[in-house]
Parts: sequence; structure tokens; C-alpha cells
Amino acid sequence: MFRLAILVGLVGVALAGKSPNADIIERMVRSHPGARYSNDILEDAQLDVPDLVAKYGYPVESHNVETQDGYGLTMHRIPHGRDSHNKSDPNKPIVFLMHGLLSSSADYLLLGPGRALGYILADLGYDVWLGNARGNYYSRRHRRLNPDSRLNKNFWKFSWDEIGNYDLPAFLDYIEAHTGQSRLHFVGHSQGGTSFLVLASLRPEYNKRFISFQGLAPASFFTHNEHPTFTRIAPLESILESAAFAMGRAEVFGSREFITWFALRYCAEESIFSPICTSIIVSGTSDHFNTTMIPVFLGHAPAGASIRQYAHFAQCINTDSFRRYDHGTLTNLRVYGRRTPPEYDLNKVTAPTYIYYATNDKTVHYQDVRLLASKLPNVKGAFQINSPTFDHLDFLWGSGAKDLFYTKMIRLMREAENAL
Ligand SMILES: *[C@@H]1O[C@H](CO)[C@@H](O)[C@H](O)[C@H]1NC(C)=O
Ligand SMILES: *[C@@H]1O[C@H](CO)[C@@H](O)[C@H](O)[C@H]1NC(C)=O
Repeated sequence: MFRLAILVGLVGVALAGKSPNADIIERMVRSHPGARYSNDILEDAQLDVPDLVAKYGYPVESHNVETQDGYGLTMHRIPHGRDSHNKSDPNKPIVFLMHGLLSSSADYLLLGPGRALGYILADLGYDVWLGNARGNYYSRRHRRLNPDSRLNKNFWKFSWDEIGNYDLPAFLDYIEAHTGQSRLHFVGHSQGGTSFLVLASLRPEYNKRFISFQGLAPASFFTHNEHPTFTRIAPLESILESAAFAMGRAEVFGSREFITWFALRYCAEESIFSPICTSIIVSGTSDHFNTTMIPVFLGHAPAGASIRQYAHFAQCINTDSFRRYDHGTLTNLRVYGRRTPPEYDLNKVTAPTYIYYATNDKTVHYQDVRLLASKLPNVKGAFQINSPTFDHLDFLWGSGAKDLFYTKMIRLMREAENAL
């Protein structure tokens, strides 16, 4: 009901500038093309993760943790499948899923039961935990700092370095304390893989806790980058954050209600705006992208990020290296004890590593993923997705993801468990 009210508000403002009323929402829902073929699309676009998972009959829990530097984060958990016989098995293997830039735990669930990785793993007997990085829709809290402050932007002064260095240890330590199990699988998509590399290199003592690391197009080097957004912002890196702060915009795409409204209005399959909508989310052409699902995808992503996450990737592009955030000479001296930031020491990433990449991935270039694999010390396998059109988001949302690689990945996870 609350969300509906916001929707009414936005529609009201956009259509007539009048105050919200029930008449408008009813007209919108009736005239919305998606409403004619699937009520679920509308509903799934608007439900938060716990309600979405519960709707499909799975057990779901939310767990709040606090990082060493004061950020309040929410993890979601699907402790077992819909009808598994072994729900109370205390030795169920644990898998932790970490989302990418601008995303959330919803990434691994939106395709629904039988198709989304989170549900598939739960049904196969895994205890599934899903992280939410600081600053996203579910983790927008701090002990002292206010994310909405207009004058003080300190909440937003973090990149994926902090996500790897503080958020991930907070999640993993909590899971260990809660379940009594210290070992787990780590699945990271894109920046989720980046944050894993940060953790495993800056805090190498965590390596022994990973049964395996499954990197789905993990971002690190950008030597072969062709992504238009990154190409455009890279030269502006040094002014990116100050310009954003000056405009009062440290948060990127944080307004979920607006995006949901936009998605429902313009991204339904029968809408004339649907091609524009598709081009916003998928830069290339993918056979795997299900356009019917666009309102659901856009209802949950983007889920917010800080401008510094972009700036840090831009620094990687500009310096052609995978190194810590460059704060400028004076702050670098204080934080790192040197004028320039150190590189992440990939030799310390000793967890058993499995890497997946796609040749049609326009966001994280497959040659950069291969470059990463060549530098990691314990790669058990680096696999190319066997489809010429598979793109970056298809790792999560591609119709063919299950057959093309989830099945194989889970077999490899089992093998790694048996090898313990
Ligand atoms: C849990 O049950 C499922 C389905 O019966 C089975 O495939 C899986 O191997 C079991 N997992 C464990 C850890 O026993
Ligand atoms: C696309 O999504 C719709 C709605 O969830 C679903 O009914 C359909 O089966 C999907 N198509 C494919 C190819 O997965």
C-alpha cells in the first residue's frame, strides 16, 4: 500500500501535477500494457526481496549487520528450498551471493524459482545468503552519518574498496557466528567479484574460509574496456566526485520508486518505448534477455551506488592497473603511507577460484577476465560461456544461464566440497 501511494504520487506529478488520488492509479494500472498479460510482472516489480521470496513459497530471513566503520547492512537468507527433506541439516553447505555495481540481493532472484540462481541453490540443499553492499536500497544506514544529508556527503565517501574491506568481513563473520560454519562458497558477479578480490588480497586470512570462489565476469583490469559509460567517465575521473558533490548528487540512481514507475510506464513489452528501455539496460544484443521481464528488472535495479565506485573503476582504466582508491597525494600518505595507492596483491588470493566469462560481454571484457585469471594463483578453471550473444547481465537474468553454466558451476561447487 505504501509503495502504491508513492506510485500514485509520481504518476500524479508526472501526468497532471495534481495531488495523488485513487482515480489516477486505477487509470494507470488499467492502461498499463503489462497489466493485461501478467499481474505478476507488476507485483514482482514492486515487492521487496523478503516479500518477493515469501510470495514464491520459500523461507526468507533478513539479517542486519554493522561494519567496523559504522555502516548498517542487510543480508537476505533463504535457509532451505521450498520442499527440501533436509531443511534442518546443520551441515548444509553455505553459499554467499554478492551482487554487482548498482545492484542488490534481488539480482539472484528476479528470474523466479527454477531459473534464478538463488532459488536453484536453495532447492539443491544450500543455505543461501545474499549480501547488500553499503549505500544500496537495503543497506542505506549508518551509526552516525546521514545518507540524505545535503551538506555532509561523508556517508557516500566509499568505493568498492570499502565494500571488500569492511562489508564482506562483516557479512562473513556474522554468517559464521550464526551458523557455526566458517567455510562457504562465494559467488560474485561483476563488482561482486571485484569486492571478493579486494577482501582476499587485503585480508588474506579469509582465503581459508572459502570452499570456492565462483567469479561471474569479475571486474578488475580494464585494459580492453569498450564500455561507453566507463570510456566516457574515465577522463573526468579527477573531478567526478567533487562535481557530483557540488550538484548534491553523491548517490547514483538511488531513487527506486522513480525507476519502478518509469519501468512500469515505459518498459512493458507492448509499450512503444520498450526498445528505448531495452537499450538502457542491455548495450548489445542478447538472445537471452527476456524483454517481458524488464519491468521486474528495473523495479529492482538500479538499486543505488556511490559516485566513488565509478571513480575508482575510472582510476583502474586510467592507470591500467588494479589498485586501491587514489585519494590524492596527502591523503594517500596518511592512508597508505605512500604517495600513490598500492596495487591489490593478487598473489594473496589463494582461495580455489573458478572464473566464467562471455565473449559478448560489453561491460567486463572477456580478455580482461582472462588477464585476471592469468594473475591469480589458484585458478581451478576459467570457462567461456558457450554462446556468442551472452552478455554481462545474462549471468543473472539470461534465460539460458541455467543450462549454459549454473548446472556446471554447481557441479564444480560439489566437487570442491567433496575435496575438503
Ligand atoms: C538436500 O536434499 C536435496 C534434495 O533431496 C539433495 O539433492 C541434496 O544433496 C541434499 N543436501 C545435503 C547437504 O544433504
Ligand atoms: C520470459 O518471462 C516470462 C514472464 O516471467 C515467462 O513467462 C517466459 O517463460 C520467459 N521466457 C523465457 C524464454 O524464459
